[in-house]
Amino acid sequence: MTGELRVGLAGLGTVGAGVAKVLFGNAQNLEWRAGRGIALTAVSARERKKDRGVDLSAIPFENNPLAIAERPDVDVVVELIGGEEGVARALVESALRAKKHVVTANKALLARHGAVLAGLAERNGVSLKFEAAICGGIPIVKALREGLIAYEISAIRGILNGTCNFILTQMEATGRPFAEVLAEAQRLGYAEADPTLDIGGGDTAHKLTLLASLAFGTVPDLDGVAMTGIDKVSPADIAFAGEFGYRIKLLGVARRTANGIEQVVHPAMVPARTPLADVESSFNAVSADAGEAGRFFFQGCGAGQGPTASAVLSDIADVARGAFGPAFGRPAEELERGKREPAEARKSAYYMRFQVLDVPGVMAEISRHLANEMVSIESMIQRGRAPGEPVAIVMITHEAQHVAVVRALQAIAASDKVCETPCMIPMEAA
Ligand code: HSE
Repeated sequence: MTGELRVGLAGLGTVGAGVAKVLFGNAQNLEWRAGRGIALTAVSARERKKDRGVDLSAIPFENNPLAIAERPDVDVVVELIGGEEGVARALVESALRAKKHVVTANKALLARHGAVLAGLAERNGVSLKFEAAICGGIPIVKALREGLIAYEISAIRGILNGTCNFILTQMEATGRPFAEVLAEAQRLGYAEADPTLDIGGGDTAHKLTLLASLAFGTVPDLDGVAMTGIDKVSPADIAFAGEFGYRIKLLGVARRTANGIEQVVHPAMVPARTPLADVESSFNAVSADAGEAGRFFFQGCGAGQGPTASAVLSDIADVARGAFGPAFGRPAEELERGKREPAEARKSAYYMRFQVLDVPGVMAEISRHLANEMVSIESMIQRGRAPGEPVAIVMITHEAQHVAVVRALQAIAASDKVCETPCMIPMEAA
């Protein structure tokens, strides 16, 4: 590897501008670290003349991002456009076909098409790198792909979405409801104007899919993620969680079980004063169980200009060094397929809350439906209120089959003594 590595940058939003700033502002250090110079030789964005806090006037500009992939003076295409299909996908595909390395932050694209794109990169003898796609600045892709390789990874658990963690942390601190805290998060710029992908769990699912593939050597399987967002989490549940010694966190969990790979995104009860429970505000974290090597915990900033640009630069430096292998840690053809754990096999202990009329027989009715589905209660609280007002009955179950708990709750919800849709939240082991 000699001469400068020539970078074409498509997408000059917050992260793209951050990458350009580092390429100009920290060039000497990057050269020392990467073993060769790294030069920005072309850029593309929707708007040419916008103040991005970095002077790009001397860099050739392409109106059409796809032209970046065709330029002879570009060795590596950095795709920071985003989106599962459209221009981003076309750019990545044409760059790989043109034998350009690709560095991307595009989790949606890779969660959906990762194995195909990894195969395309291999056949063309170039790399496909995506450190910035998962948890911003946390070097978790490198850790899973290159660090924790001696033993089989059995489980990955993570707080993978800063927006959700910020909202849940604020709800807990202030006792305010979800909608109010979301509106405040939007005002402060912590949440997008359209927050669906974050609060619905989709963004976490994208990242979990990629983590699972890196950890288990499987084809990224976005459709295999069972997903629940945070919009139904209430201040009451957060307060009860505290009473039981837990905090509610939106987790992405991937496990290798006897039946296959389980991938779940859900608000979960995490035992208080454990590393995951202690992750505050908009921070991200990943915990990896790596067999005989033990459990590892990574925490850091999961979004924003500095953290995400840092991850992009780490990938560019790898390409400059010639340090690249298969995108997901094993040849694309060797990634395992069809190893999804059946939904019936999913098990957990559950927290449940029922708002019920305080009348004779209500507890017996709830217990009967739970018993019918072989769901056993481990502990319980009932809070009294004024006569005639609904009361909260809160239970924690022993380990039970997820589908059985869902069936029991549907039956309980149909009772005329139950005033609200019952709430169920899985308990995550420490
Ligand atoms: N919107 C994401 C978050 C960052 O809130 O963590 C980009 O994936």
